[in-house]
This record gives sequence, C-alpha cells and structure tokens, in this order.
Amino acid sequence: MKKKFEPVLLVASLIFLSPLSIPIAVRSAAQATALAPVPNAQLADRKLNARVEALLKQMTLEEKIGQTVQYSAGFATGPAGSKASYDELVQRGAAGSLINVYGAERTNHYQHIAMEKSRLHIPLLFGMDVIHGDRTTFPVPLGLAASWDPKLIATVARTSAVEARADGIPWVFSPMVDIARDARWGRIVESAGEDPFLGSAIARGWVEGYQQNDLTKPDSVAVSVKHFAAYGAAIAGRDYNATDMSDITLRQVYLPPYRAAVDAGAATVMSSFNSINGVPATANPYTLTQILRKEWGFDGLVVSDWGSVAELLNHAIGPDGATVARKALTAGVDMDMEGNLYATTIAAQVRSGAIPEAVVDEAARRILRVKFALGLFDNPYTTVTPAYEPTAEKRAQARAVGAETIVLLKNDPVEGVGSLLPLGKYAKTVALIGPLADSAKEMLGSWGALGDAKFAISLKQALQERLGDRLLYAKGCGVLAGNDENVLKHVSFIDQENPPSPNVTEAVPDDAKTIAEAVETAKKADVAILALGENADWMTGEASSRAYLDLPGNQEKLLEAVAATGKPVVLIMFTGRPNAIKWAGAHLPAIVEAWYPGMEGGHAVADILFGDVNPSAKSPVSFPRATGQEPLYYAQMPTGRPAHVDLSHIPSNAVEKFVSRYIDEENSALFPFGWGLSYTRFSYSQPTVDKAQVSLQDMAQGHGPGLTVGVDVRNTGSVAGTEVVQLYLRNTSSSVEQPVRELKGFQRVALAPGESKHVEFPLGFDELSFYNAESKRVVEPTTYKVFAGGSSLASKETSFEVK
Ligand code: NOJ
Repeated sequence: MKKKFEPVLLVASLIFLSPLSIPIAVRSAAQATALAPVPNAQLADRKLNARVEALLKQMTLEEKIGQTVQYSAGFATGPAGSKASYDELVQRGAAGSLINVYGAERTNHYQHIAMEKSRLHIPLLFGMDVIHGDRTTFPVPLGLAASWDPKLIATVARTSAVEARADGIPWVFSPMVDIARDARWGRIVESAGEDPFLGSAIARGWVEGYQQNDLTKPDSVAVSVKHFAAYGAAIAGRDYNATDMSDITLRQVYLPPYRAAVDAGAATVMSSFNSINGVPATANPYTLTQILRKEWGFDGLVVSDWGSVAELLNHAIGPDGATVARKALTAGVDMDMEGNLYATTIAAQVRSGAIPEAVVDEAARRILRVKFALGLFDNPYTTVTPAYEPTAEKRAQARAVGAETIVLLKNDPVEGVGSLLPLGKYAKTVALIGPLADSAKEMLGSWGALGDAKFAISLKQALQERLGDRLLYAKGCGVLAGNDENVLKHVSFIDQENPPSPNVTEAVPDDAKTIAEAVETAKKADVAILALGENADWMTGEASSRAYLDLPGNQEKLLEAVAATGKPVVLIMFTGRPNAIKWAGAHLPAIVEAWYPGMEGGHAVADILFGDVNPSAKSPVSFPRATGQEPLYYAQMPTGRPAHVDLSHIPSNAVEKFVSRYIDEENSALFPFGWGLSYTRFSYSQPTVDKAQVSLQDMAQGHGPGLTVGVDVRNTGSVAGTEVVQLYLRNTSSSVEQPVRELKGFQRVALAPGESKHVEFPLGFDELSFYNAESKRVVEPTTYKVFAGGSSLASKETSFEVK
C-alpha cells in the first residue's frame, strides 16, 4: 500500500545521544505519531472520503449510531445471540452490519431492505468467521503457520475470499494474529504460534490474499485483524482472562503481527476480550487510539468482539451500560458486536453532552469508509450461484496445502525396518487405531466456517483407498473417558439453538474392553498407526483452555498398551495445540503432528505417511514436556542463573540446584520451535556476514540493509526435499535485556538430492531494533551472534558488530 511518508525514512538522521552518551539509532513513538503512515490508500482516498462526508451530512444522529450497531442475525458465535426483528432494524437504519448470515439469498434479502427501504440506502456490511476456508476447509491456522509459507497462506485466503463473496460475505473475521505462547489457551489453534517474526510474515500473507491490495475487486474481502491486543497472553492460559505486561513486551512481542497486518492494508481490526495492564482492550485509548490510529495511521474501522462492550460491566470499569459504552466508543471501538449498548445508550449521551457528536461522526465515518472502499454502495448484492461443490481442483488445493502443514516430529530407525516412515514394503498389514482415525468431522478443526463434514476425508478412508483389506481398524477408546465422551457427542460450538439434553443417559463407554480389542488388532499387523488427539470443536478454539496438556481420556493408556505389543508404532496427533506427549517422545519411533489438516486431511496425512510428499513443515510452537512448563517459548529472556547443568535428574547438589530450573523437569521443549524433520537430510555451512561491522550511522540511514548473512544449505540425502532455513540472532549487550534467541529470517528452499543453495538474509533496522526503557525503538552498539539452521536449536554460528 502507498505511504504518505516512508516510515523507514523516519529513522534517517535520528541519531541521538542516550543518557549514558551511547549513540543510538532511534525512532520514538512521538515522531511516529507526527508522521503517521497511510497503510491503506483506498481508505485515505480523497474522493472516497468526500463521498463519506457528503453522506454523513445527511444522516441523523440515530442513523449514524445505527452504523455502529452489529447483530448476529444467523447462528450464534458467542453466548446468547440477539433475537431481534432484523428486517425492521435494517429498514430503520438501526443496524449497520449483520454477522453470521450467509448465502446470496439471505444476505440479499437484508441488503434489499437496506438499499431500497431505508431512508439513505446505506448497504449493510455482512461479516463472518472465515478463518481457514469458507466452504473448502483448509488446515487450522496453527497448522497453516507450520508451513512457514506466507505465499501458500495467501492462496488459502484467495480461495476463502472467492467463496465468502459467493456466500454474500465481503468481510471476514480473520486473520487472528495473537501471539500464543501458552498451549493451555485453546485459541492457540487459531494463531500462528509463538513468534512475532513468523507471525508477522503469516499475517501479511493473509491480508494480501484476502484483500489483494484492492478492496473494490468483486472477489476481495476486507479482513478483521484480531484480537487487538495481546489476547494471546491471557494469564494462566485461561480464555478471556486479563493480560499484564510491560510496554516493551507489548510492543516488541505482541504488537508486531497486528502492525504487519495494518501495514499490509488491513481494513478493520477487532478489539479483544482481555484487559491489558488493567485497561480492557475494548475501552483502551492507548492501544486503540494512540498506537493503532496515531502511531500506525490506521483509517479503517474497529469492531468489538462479541459482547465485549457489554462485558465491560463485568470488568467493572463503570457503574452502568451507558458509562462503559461511552468508554468503548471514545477509546476507539467504532462498532458494537452483539453488545446492544451503542444502540441503546449513545444517543441520550450525545443529547446530554456527555459524548460529543463528533465522536459518533468519527465512528460512522470509519465504518462508511470501509463500505465505500468495498464498493458496496455500487454493488451491494451477491449473484446467486450454484451450490458449493468440492471440485477436483479445490480438493487438490486442500490436499496439497494440508500436506505442507504436517510436521514430522520424530522418525527413528526401527530394527529390521530402518526409518519407520515413509511406510515401506514391510508394512503389509497396517492397524489403524484411535478415536480420531475415523472422524471426517475432526479433520475440519475448530471454526470450520461453512465446511461440511460430508466432504471431508478421514484418515481411515484415505488409508483404505490405498491398502484395501490390508488395513485393520479399531477405535480403541473415545477422545475423553466416561460420560464426558457422551457429552462430546452432543455439543456444537455454533449450534446453540439445540443444546444437548443435560441428562445424557447413554451407556458409559467401556474403554478397557475397546483398548483390549485394539491391542489384538495391532498384534495382527506389521505396524500400528495411532490417530490420537483432541475433539476439535469443544476442546480447541474459543473457550477451550485446558489445565492438562497430555493426551485426554484414556488415550495414553491405549497408546502404551498398543506399543507394549512390540509392533512399531506411528503416532499421528490431530490436535489444536502442542500437547505434552513426553512418553511418546521417549518411546515411539515415529510421531507426526497433523493438527487438524482440513477437508482433504486424510489424504494429506496419507501422502506424508507413504512418502508421496516429503514433509517440510516446522512447528510454530514449542512442545512442552509437561504442562507446568507453560508458557513455553524459545525466545526466553536471559537469567542471572542460567541452567548450564544436567537437568535430567533432581538436583543433587547446590551447583545443580540454585539455577533457573524445575527440580522435576527439564527446561527445554520436547520438540522446539522451528522443529520438523524430512525424509531427506540437510547440512548447513557456517553462516557468513558480508560486513563484520556495521556502523550505527548506516543503520540509521534507513536505505538498504545494514548487512547480509549468507549460508549454504545442502540436501545430503537421497530424495528431493524442502528445508525451511532459519536465522536467529542474539544481541549480546543492550540497555534492556533481549531474548537468548530471536528469529529474524527464514526461507523455504527446495533441494534435489545432492543439491546445495546459497541463502541470504538481509538485516537492517527492522531486524536489529528493539524497544528501550523509554519505549523508543533503537539500535545500539553491540555484538550480535548469528545462528543458522533448521530449527531454533540452530548451531552454526557467526557474529557481527554494530559500532
Ligand atoms: C468471538 C470470537 O472471539 C471472535 O474471534 C469472533 O470473530 C467473534 N466471536 C464473532 O464470531
């Protein structure tokens, strides 16, 4: 997107002397505010804004407030959806947006009322949670992030946008860009994982794919970047909980992906449920106005999350609905999603003088801008098209994308077999076991939008296609144990109209019996494939925090019983988070993290298992050994007492004890961030730098990279493969301590057997700067260590200085 001012230039000439007389390259928040960029030229367009102003002049106060009101006129995606007469509200101009209504006929129905019967003929803005596909369901976002492939993600966004538009939806509540470092938090499944650099690249991929840098295109959709801000840092991983962090952490770790999305032109942002340092994000002038509008130049609209304006009452920041609604609106939340407080309390407060009318004007202005930019005034309706069909082309896309997201966590040789995967000739008879093996629905994952299980391919179906009667099957046990499993069968995230009967009277499943049957099945096979994990709809996603991250129900028992047969076991995890699978990590030869791989999930997993696709995905999150390690992430801050001792046993002396450690578990991840194996092997050269020293002055010039790191990567195995080459930095001396490692570059590199490629990573102000104690973004004189490799454990090293 065009920029009025090139932000990099802001850095130019800004060399200051710090209090300690160390020169630093700096860009302060105040300077950024003064020269705010224009991240979306369409929203800032003069002609567009003239149309907005002309319309605003004709609007009554009620009509302007109407624009700020949003209802769910379809299914509910939160507690207690509204039940209003939407026809009448739309006709009165009392609702500017409807969500969860889809399909050309239904959206056109309301749009005709808005365009033909309302006084000013202002189109409605229809929104929906299209987050990993609309009808063609792709892997869940955490899986997509494991591809480390923003271009691939843009293609997913493209398909989703085309289908959403056909469904009458020009506005998607995606991408979710919350940094998620705590696997207890169910919404980690919707995120791109733990890292701000990776998360920012993925966020850009989503926005570019959805919006195509042109909202007027009939197959573009406006995004809603969510959840602003820092929702992923919910204390103790409990959903909707408060967050509390320093301004440095907020700006350096949590805000970058939102910023990347805004810089890529994101038209809308959704405020989050949590509070940040005591101020709810839905009434937070610091994040919504100072940072988002003033510093980042955001011109689009901010919508609240579901009911989050009304929930301000529970946050107890005001005695009544009127007060909290005023706080939200004046802080910068333009649209009230399902809160019903803007609709009922704002007009009176404007009349009493408690809220200046200009505040309402500004909210309506931002909403109208997005409607104009989307071309809705000129093309408000959706053409009715034939019902969705999962064409061969769509299936092929979903299958290829699925395979790119599956992480091979472990693949050790087995005696007499060699590497267990890909499944070789030895695997004449295969036992497929586990509660996720025969579930097409679970392949869709949580928040599958309009994805339909009838189109989804289970692992059992896919393996049967390949193996016929050489495939044996046993369910083994449920996802959960006892009556909990019965409850799971009856719940649905979006079908709250038909709640399950509280008195589930079905027989409690007898897992001991079914596990014994599974063991017998495994004994008849050459290899056992266990498909284990979590129920997607109810155990991952929103309101799905878990206090125990290990395999739920009796699945661990099932796994260990099958492994005890001595048959080689491949564990496939269908989950929305990195689970604590310590026993499996220590005892099984092969582990595959499949997340929820989408509509073609079964085929995608089979493609990996049989080696038709060589795995290339890398985990965007750290896998814990134990739940107690959470939040667990590689970019830890240094400690005065680093644990350079043997952590594999309880400390046996003071040297082992008085360090930063757990007495009963190792500090490290079971599988670290960036980890993922291939059926080939890659070797790395020592990384090199084109300059051993970079001048601080150069760093502040802002034109061109400060230096370039190069590394050679070679495929030393016998099959073609793709490696995600990763670059990590460590700042060894800074005014404010910096993480022990930070990702600052990555590239996917396809290599034929024996082939070698030289990969380069430019490093400039963006990569080397950090926030100092005054919340200023600075580069300081220091020495950086540079690590290149195939995971966050990368060990090939060099260094350079900034002087
Ligand atoms: C609540 C969720 O937090 C948010 O992600 C979603 O977009 C809205 N509901 C609308 O469904």
